[in-house]
Amino acid sequence: MSTTAQAWPGVIEQYAQYLPVSDATPRVTLLEGNTPLIPSVTLAKRLGEGVELYFKFEGLNPTGSFKDRGMTMAISKAVEEGATCTICASTGNTSAAAAAYSARAGIQSVVLIPDGYVALGKLAQALAYGARTIAVEGHFDACLRLVREISENYPVELVNSLNPYRLQGQKTAAFEVCDWLGRAPDYHALPVGNAGNITSYWMGYGEYHEAGMAESRPKMLGFQAAGSAPIVLGERVDKPETLATAIRIGNPARWEEAICALDESDGCIRAVTDEEIVEAYTELSSVEGVFCEPASAASWAGLKQLAGEGFFAGQECTVVATLTGHGLKDPDRAVAIATEPDKAPDDVDTIVKMLGL
Ligand code: F0G
Repeated sequence: MSTTAQAWPGVIEQYAQYLPVSDATPRVTLLEGNTPLIPSVTLAKRLGEGVELYFKFEGLNPTGSFKDRGMTMAISKAVEEGATCTICASTGNTSAAAAAYSARAGIQSVVLIPDGYVALGKLAQALAYGARTIAVEGHFDACLRLVREISENYPVELVNSLNPYRLQGQKTAAFEVCDWLGRAPDYHALPVGNAGNITSYWMGYGEYHEAGMAESRPKMLGFQAAGSAPIVLGERVDKPETLATAIRIGNPARWEEAICALDESDGCIRAVTDEEIVEAYTELSSVEGVFCEPASAASWAGLKQLAGEGFFAGQECTVVATLTGHGLKDPDRAVAIATEPDKAPDDVDTIVKMLGL
């Protein structure tokens, strides 16, 4: 059998020329990346007549979130530099990815998570991949402070997005968007938590533009949960709250870089309420058939908010919204906001009657 299709090699191998790697860098990969850019068939119309909308569905990465892109880089470089143990703070997705890629590399991982505020699927992942998992009495911000201090004083490699290799890996998502579209979009919408991802995308778009791979760069649109919106408010939030636990962060590590991305791209950052997030989350799955986690839906919630103010009126434009994590990460939330399934006996007539057929 002959085939012209090339197997996808993972983001490091695919984009090696744009990454700080050499032939000596081991490729610790689960073949992450190459996630689909799914065209919206229904929801796009709500933004405006001339708007083309795509969802970059990062939930289809090997551990179910965009974190795999950064983690393949961070762990590969850690192994190259001789590390035997990684550490990170996480609201759940970073820890899942750190645990998976550390397992793949044959090294230990330690994850610190806010006790009681990590979605079930993510907790299951850290445990299943064999991370030493510590639930801390405190928010993500406290976990991050702890791992910074520990990694400065003990032989463990920090793999939060303070680690520059994380951003390097995550920027590949912007390359993929340009490769799929054949150009950069006009707008790129993202949920913002620790602000690593918006920083990475902006870096990626900038580098592709400079390399002549994209004629333009998009305006970056960032969305924070209203109860955890330090960048929008311009001040740290000491008690961040939101049901979108992935972005329940009051003091983002990449705050300044995020501001740069927003300013340089002439974009904006907004807050979306938990009600808006839940509505957006439900619409994405029930209208478009794309099941993402609540934090990811902040992208669509924010776009709708902007459209409501006439932001896209009269514009012919292409908008990409990153859906950062898979809906199965947080099964409790999905079940909690849905209506209970109806119960029925093992009987055709009853079920047909219930369905009104
Ligand atoms: N969406 C999801 C699903 C996330 O898990 C995160 C961050 C974000 C959006 C925001 O990205 O932090 O780069 O601005 N999750 C981190 C974690 C904090 O620990 O998994 P960001």
